[in-house]
Amino acid sequence: MKADIKTINKILASVFHPAKDENIVSLGMVEDVKIEEEKIKFKLVFTGRDALAGSIKKECEKVLNEAFPDMKISILELVREKKPEKKVKLELGQEQLSDVDKIIVIASGKGGVGKSTVAVNLAITLAKMGYKVGLADADVYGPSVPKMTGTEGFMPEVEIIEGENSESEKSELIIPIEKYGVKWMSIGYFARPEQALIWRGPMACNALKQMILQVKWGRLDYLLIDLPPGTGDIHISMVHDIPLSGAIIVSTPQAVALADVEKGVNMFRNDAIKKHIYGIIENMAWFTPAELPQNKYYIFGKDGCKAIADKYDLPLLGQIPLIQSIREGGDNGEPTALTEGPVLEAMKKIAGYL
Ligand SMILES: Nc1ncnc2c1ncn2[C@@H]1O[C@H](COP(=O)(O)OP(=O)(O)O)[C@@H](O)[C@H]1O
Ligand SMILES: [Mg+2]
Repeated sequence: MKADIKTINKILASVFHPAKDENIVSLGMVEDVKIEEEKIKFKLVFTGRDALAGSIKKECEKVLNEAFPDMKISILELVREKKPEKKVKLELGQEQLSDVDKIIVIASGKGGVGKSTVAVNLAITLAKMGYKVGLADADVYGPSVPKMTGTEGFMPEVEIIEGENSESEKSELIIPIEKYGVKWMSIGYFARPEQALIWRGPMACNALKQMILQVKWGRLDYLLIDLPPGTGDIHISMVHDIPLSGAIIVSTPQAVALADVEKGVNMFRNDAIKKHIYGIIENMAWFTPAELPQNKYYIFGKDGCKAIADKYDLPLLGQIPLIQSIREGGDNGEPTALTEGPVLEAMKKIAGYL
C-alpha cells in the first residue's frame, strides 16, 4: 500500500481511545501527519495526563507497521493542558484537596437507586484505567462503602499534625483505607450504624465535610463523593462548600425517581450553587435473565432517564441493567467492575465523560 496522508488517517481512525469510545482521529488527537522518504511522522495529542497514552501510542505503531512494513514510524506524544477549567479557588480548611484534580459528587434524589453501587464501581474502573482515585462516602445516613468494598470494621489511622506555635493548633488527618487501587473513606468506619441515623442538621453536615476535608488524600486525579440521597439543607451546604468540578445524577427510570432527578438538577443549577452536571446515569434500566440473554424486561419503565436528560439538555452517560452479579458484588464486598463484563464496559464509557 502506498503511504499517503489520507490512507494514514484512515488507518489511524481504527485506533480507539478506550475511555472515550471514539477513534483518535475523530477526537482530534492526530496532528501534522507527514511522510518523509521512509518515515511516517505525526503528533499524538493528549489533553492533560492520560493513563492510556502509552497503550494508544503502541496501538498506532502496530496498525501503521502492519499497513506499511517498510516505513519507520515516528510518533511525537504531546500533552496539551485541558481546556481551562475554572480552577475552583480553595478556601481555608480545604488544603487536603489541593492536589486533587477533579471532585465529582454522585447524587440521587431518591435512595436505593444504586448511587453507591455506581460510585464504587466507577471508582474501581477509573483506578483500573490508571487514574489515582479516592471515594468519600458522605452518606451519613446509610454509609455503604465499607460493606460494598469488603472493608467493614477497618479502622483508618489518624495522623496528628503539630501546630507550629501552640498546642491548640494541633490538627488530625485521617488516612484513607486503600483497597482495589482506590482510597476509600467512609463515615461507616467511625460510627456504629445506629448512631449515624440519629445525626441531624449541623452535626451530620460537619461529619460529612470531615470525610472530605480532613482526609489525607494526597495526589488524586479523581475524588468521587457518594452523597446522601435527597436535596435538603445538608446537600445544599455540601455542594456549596466543596470545590466541586461537577455532579453525576443516578436514577432508575421509574416515575417517582425521575421526579426527584428534576429536584436534583434544579439544585445544582440554582443561582446560589451553579455547579456543572456531567449527566445522568440510568441504573436498573432493564432486566435480562441469564437463561434468556436476548430478552430485556423494562421493569421500572423504558427510557425514563433519556427523557429527563433531553428535557434538561444533559447527556445520558450510561444505562446499567439490573444484574444479579451487581447485587451480589455489592453484598460480598467484591464490586462487579473488578472483572471484565458489561458493568466495567459501561463504567469505562461513563469515565470518558469525566
Ligand atoms: N444494576 C443493579 N443490578 C442489581 N442490583 C443492583 C443494581 N444497582 C444497585 N443494586 C442493588 O440495589 C441495592 C441498592 O443500591 P445502592 O447502591 O445501595 O443504592 P443507593 O446508594 O442509591 O441507596 C443494593 O443492594 C445494590 O447491590
Ligand atoms: Mg448509598
